[in-house]
Amino acid sequence: MTKTSLKSLLIGGSFCVALLGASPSWAAVDWSGVPAKDVTLFYPGQSSFEWVMTPTDHEGAEKFRGGKNCHQCHAGDEKTMGDLLVSGKKNEPNPIAGKPGSVAAKVKIAHDDENLYVHLEFAEGSQPDTGMDKDFATKVTMMLNDGGVPEANRAGCWAMCHDDASSMSSAAGATRTKYLNKTRAHLTRQGGGDELKSADDLAKLTADGYALEYWQARLNPSGSSVAVNGSVFSKREETKPTAVTVASKNSGGVWSVTFTRKLNAGANFKPIVAGKPYTIGFAIHAGHTAKRFHYVSFEHSLVLDQGDADFVAVKQ
Ligand code: HEC
Repeated sequence: MTKTSLKSLLIGGSFCVALLGASPSWAAVDWSGVPAKDVTLFYPGQSSFEWVMTPTDHEGAEKFRGGKNCHQCHAGDEKTMGDLLVSGKKNEPNPIAGKPGSVAAKVKIAHDDENLYVHLEFAEGSQPDTGMDKDFATKVTMMLNDGGVPEANRAGCWAMCHDDASSMSSAAGATRTKYLNKTRAHLTRQGGGDELKSADDLAKLTADGYALEYWQARLNPSGSSVAVNGSVFSKREETKPTAVTVASKNSGGVWSVTFTRKLNAGANFKPIVAGKPYTIGFAIHAGHTAKRFHYVSFEHSLVLDQGDADFVAVKQ
């Protein structure tokens, strides 16, 4: 232990002991004073980044290219879109019978001097058990962009969702994970394949902060949750040790999930600071699903304390 961290532990000593004796640190947040925002996550099928960028596939493609963001056109459409896509009538060759098309979540975000807290509450409804993920019934994921990935500011999670990723239209059996556009030597309607840019180009992108961060809560209704975090650059990679902790409970089918992450979690994580605009996106895998068989949100903006954003994280 370094001198500084020992010192801060001693200064915070009595506070920590009180908390350890009672409940985990997220309980320190008084959520009653934090406004909730509705975020509807919808089933996207195989609607990849390449699909949304192609005018013959997607009506919004040209306007997106012209500067309009996904959420600006689609806010309020999520439920209808999810119902259409989950049915198999569009962009979904393998529909899951009986699966709901969307999940409505209430999201609250707060911070104190040390941590950012993201709290989701949602009912996933009656979910058929697909058996794809044997270990976890439900997974909640949050994407965090600090502006280093400009396309994610405008398209949220679609910045990493490609047509040739595992289980997508052009995968042809490949097990590619999520990746970012600029890491690839070529991009086509079928995705970027495996050919990367030169090592020098990739190093420059990394130096410029071109990566997304994600946090994931892996959940079972009657069990402990597992927290995972990682990054997406040329592929999705878990980051260890984990900087994110998760507290969760399920009562009467309603999940309550809180992520806690240090504002400054070290070199492997994006610093979270007041005054800086962030983009976040959410995903929920329900019914023991894996890979693309999830619900996703459009992009939402986040800022700490004050500013013009979908979420203004309240200081506790
Ligand atoms: C200019 C407005 C506009 C923008 C910007 C836009 N879209 Fe669309 N999008 C549409 C329209 C119009 C449709 C077709 C809806 C219909 O046929 O009823 C559509 C359809 C879709 C569909 C298929 C589901 C459906 O209801 O047909 C998906 C998925 C989708 N958009 C995702 C996105 C994503 C992701 C982005 C951002 C990268 C985006 N859209 C940006 C207008 C837009």
